[in-house]
Amino acid sequence: MKYAKIAGLGKYLPPKILTNRDLEKIVDTSDEWITTRTGIKTRHIASKKDSASTLALPAAKLALKRAGLKPKDLDLIIVATITPDRQFPSTACYLQDYLKADTVACFDIAAACSGFIYALVAAQGLIESGIFKNALVVGSEVLTKITDWDDRSTCVLFGDGAGAAVLTSGRKKSLLSSSLGGDGSYGELLLLPAGGSRIPASKETVKNKLHFVKMKGNELFRLAVRIMVNAAESALEKAHLKSSDVDILAPHQANIRIINAVASRLKLTEDKVYLNIGRYGNMSSASSAVALCEAWEEGKIKKDSIVVLDAFGGGLVWGSLVIKWV
Ligand code: ACO
Repeated sequence: MKYAKIAGLGKYLPPKILTNRDLEKIVDTSDEWITTRTGIKTRHIASKKDSASTLALPAAKLALKRAGLKPKDLDLIIVATITPDRQFPSTACYLQDYLKADTVACFDIAAACSGFIYALVAAQGLIESGIFKNALVVGSEVLTKITDWDDRSTCVLFGDGAGAAVLTSGRKKSLLSSSLGGDGSYGELLLLPAGGSRIPASKETVKNKLHFVKMKGNELFRLAVRIMVNAAESALEKAHLKSSDVDILAPHQANIRIINAVASRLKLTEDKVYLNIGRYGNMSSASSAVALCEAWEEGKIKKDSIVVLDAFGGGLVWGSLVIKWV
């Protein structure tokens, strides 16, 4: 039996930083409101010429370098994104071209903030079934390009960035268990209304700002904690582990209050929860990818550490993945 393992991690954050003070000049908000209600202080903003693929590229290169692999070694590329370069071709195809990887399998996954976890689990299945050997999985988002900068209830939340993982096959089981779920009946709580086949782009959709994120934050908040706790507990149970076995939780970074409530219900102390929401805001699929990468860079993940990824987002979709670091 071959098992998938994470052999390298990478990240990329575009250099431009937008502070809460900057936002005070754009909408009726305050540093105090944003800090206390969300935990966010700054977020990174992609340049005009950037897209999901251009942010993905440096993150992917770093993950490959750390894994000791070349792009030619890859036989699968998955990009998790809800801000793809285009509806098609897939962002994974652009990334394949930029990397000069072989003409391997490339596809995108649209699972919002849970996208990176969904993509890791998909890659794991394809590796452990023997179909592929080396996979690149990237969560990359340019949320600020689908943000309504007149809407203070959303524009203070989002940021841009990318995180990447290279998966290879090994002898020891490392991705121990996962719990993925979805419930389309809550789809209206968080969506980008137009631009797809249901409401194609038109002058009207542009005028009515239907190409920007619409979110019922309050209602999502109430669901988020229960969903994330259930997902993590279910994944841990499948691995025959308890939350007291967890060394580090690298959660989706949507709101510090959500993360703290999840940690408290899982009885995890502060030192076991990785936080970067203050610096980056919510980067959807890139959030847990960058959190995992930074937790590793900062030495919080060592051999045999039990690492839990946990996310929820628009769909609704959610996912948790338990990893024993090898
Ligand atoms: N600055 C100042 N005041 C604001 C701002 C702002 N930026 N935004 C909203 N307010 C006001 C509201 O207008 C409201 O005022 P009112 O009481 O006079 O009507 C008040 O603050 C409270 O608004 P709420 O929406 O109730 O604020 P809440 O405490 O719920 O925080 C937030 C809002 C931060 C959005 C929170 O609900 C949240 O984090 N929700 C979850 C978001 C999430 O997890 N999304 C899913 C993942 S994202 C993805 O999938 C891409």
